[in-house]
Amino acid sequence: MRFGVLTGGGDCPGLNPAIRAVVRRAAANGHATIGFLDGWKGLRDDQSRPLSVDDVQGLEARGGTVLGTSRTNPFAKEPDAEKVLATLARHGLNALIAIGGDDTLSAARELHRRGRPVVGVPKTMDNDVGGTDWTFGFHSAAAVAVDALERLRDTAASHHRAIVLEVMGRNAGWVAMATGLAGGADATLLPEEPYDEAALMAKVRRALAARRYALVVTSEGVDLGLVKGTAGAQDQFGHELLGERGVGAELARRIGAATGAETRSAQIGHIQRGGPPELFDRILASRLGAGAVDLAVAGRFGQVAVLRGPSVVGVPFDEALAGTRVVDAPWLSLLHTFDA
Ligand code: F6P
Repeated sequence: MRFGVLTGGGDCPGLNPAIRAVVRRAAANGHATIGFLDGWKGLRDDQSRPLSVDDVQGLEARGGTVLGTSRTNPFAKEPDAEKVLATLARHGLNALIAIGGDDTLSAARELHRRGRPVVGVPKTMDNDVGGTDWTFGFHSAAAVAVDALERLRDTAASHHRAIVLEVMGRNAGWVAMATGLAGGADATLLPEEPYDEAALMAKVRRALAARRYALVVTSEGVDLGLVKGTAGAQDQFGHELLGERGVGAELARRIGAATGAETRSAQIGHIQRGGPPELFDRILASRLGAGAVDLAVAGRFGQVAVLRGPSVVGVPFDEALAGTRVVDAPWLSLLHTFDA
């Protein structure tokens, strides 16, 4: 068989170990792999490079993606879709492994609907893809955010300030939830819950009274009723760039006004997406990359390799794309056990 692999959408730690796993598992089965560059753009423009076992040496520990990525939507215009189909035919590929979040996987599903042999691998720091217990990239990104919160604790305590940390995650609050929970925030705001200003100010006041500083974590996706980001900027899949809204800075302003505390905010943005993958993500990415090759070898196209409890299994694209997976009630209950 001839395998193709691409990484699409926002990068995250774990993409390189996943590429390595695809190449190594394919090679172990006697199959060759080529990598398409910059996500679906590489298939549209026929930009690729062969990937040998030597080429993927050391990728288990490297952040980013050696194949590059983009938020190109190959099905936004029919002529682009035709180019993608032509590239697949030109390379005589028997299987394409698409590694990405919901946008990349929805393009992969469309390709499969058009009769092409595609298997998906879910990744995203947002952890919002359905059908899987976890996506790789999330644990590494959340660990960076927890580290940031711990650093902010030192400076908040020294200056007796209230500091707001804004983290990414789009319309799912997984990163904020994990950061607030593991980092001991006094209040954590998620898009899954309506904004309650009175409750927030009560928590901040309590923390200030107890130890003269307060730490608040907010997800970029919390709706404060703010005007949308710079000119409503959107990516090719129509997503607003939520970081432009400045939720963290606005919260700091409101906390200062309500409590009289000196406030600051920090938006760590893309810092969360860089750096070496953590242990959990290295292993999950390796398992899902290898699992995707196994699905293809078994002829189980139109599926996504996902983690279910202790096992890697295949589920149909429709199941993984059934909707944004958000933080559910048991997690919210645990989180608020510590910041009530
Ligand atoms: O989907 C991953 C993510 O990091 C989101 O958390 C964030 O809103 C978005 O990507 C940022 O996108 P970009 O890299 O295009 O600025």
